[in-house]
Amino acid sequence: MPILEITDVSAGYGSGPDILRGLSLEVEEAKSYCIIGPNGAGKSTLFKVIAGLLHPRTGNVVFRGESLARRRPDQVLATGVCFVPQDQALFPEMSVRENLIMGAYLVKDRSLVKERLARVYEMFPILSERAGQDAGKLSGGQQQMLAMGRALMIDPILLMLDEPTLGLAPQIAQQIFSQVEQLKSMGLTVVIIEQNAQRGLELADWGVVLDLGIVRFEGPSEGILEDPRIRELYLGKAASTGETR
Ligand SMILES: Nc1ncnc2c1ncn2[C@@H]1O[C@H](COP(=O)(O)OP(=O)(O)OP(=O)(O)O)[C@@H](O)[C@H]1O
Ligand SMILES: [Mg+2]
Repeated sequence: MPILEITDVSAGYGSGPDILRGLSLEVEEAKSYCIIGPNGAGKSTLFKVIAGLLHPRTGNVVFRGESLARRRPDQVLATGVCFVPQDQALFPEMSVRENLIMGAYLVKDRSLVKERLARVYEMFPILSERAGQDAGKLSGGQQQMLAMGRALMIDPILLMLDEPTLGLAPQIAQQIFSQVEQLKSMGLTVVIIEQNAQRGLELADWGVVLDLGIVRFEGPSEGILEDPRIRELYLGKAASTGETR
């Protein structure tokens, strides 16, 4: 039984056209998903709909039996669904520690907040070293780690990461990928949008190709990586040789 069921969702901005056009997707607990697709396909829009930042025009989003379609972002967060947006939305003038504590604003039990803070510091030692520094002074990779750490402060069930390695040097991106691996091994359900489709699909159990507001293909990640049509269309790889164009 899936924990998240997206059924026939259409959504768009203001009075603009539908960006998602009858999109359906099921997410199973403790599995990991990588969403790929061309620029403007609606990948980030899908995350915004799940997170309650944009309400679907039709269709439904159901998480553990409850509809999220009309919920506010804080209400969605309270159900255990957490979204790390592309721009991370940190508080640059606040310290690393303050940013992390803000992540737990829904948690009233102070000892629980302390416990989770310790866990985040254990997972991202650099955040512990930089605890007192302004978030805005961190490097790009460290800011991404902070955004992920802040998401973990609510102990989410489902974590959505929108292009967490965007603009990062390969070595730093590699660190982020291994941290995502760690989250997977902790049993978290992770959905990641990744522009490095090859690496993203290697990481995930299930691949989803989004195009023009619908799910165009989905299946086990290896299958997507090996499918010559998908490679050609969405991975920028020549189907016959597997070489980058
Ligand atoms: N706030 C907004 N207001 C109006 N249109 C928007 C807004 N955000 C996105 N769009 C439009 O919605 C479409 C899909 O955008 P979206 O950000 O979901 O794509 P994406 O698949 O995440 O692309 P990318 O790979 O570039 O991040 C685009 O045409 C974009 O211009
Ligand atoms: Mg996007």
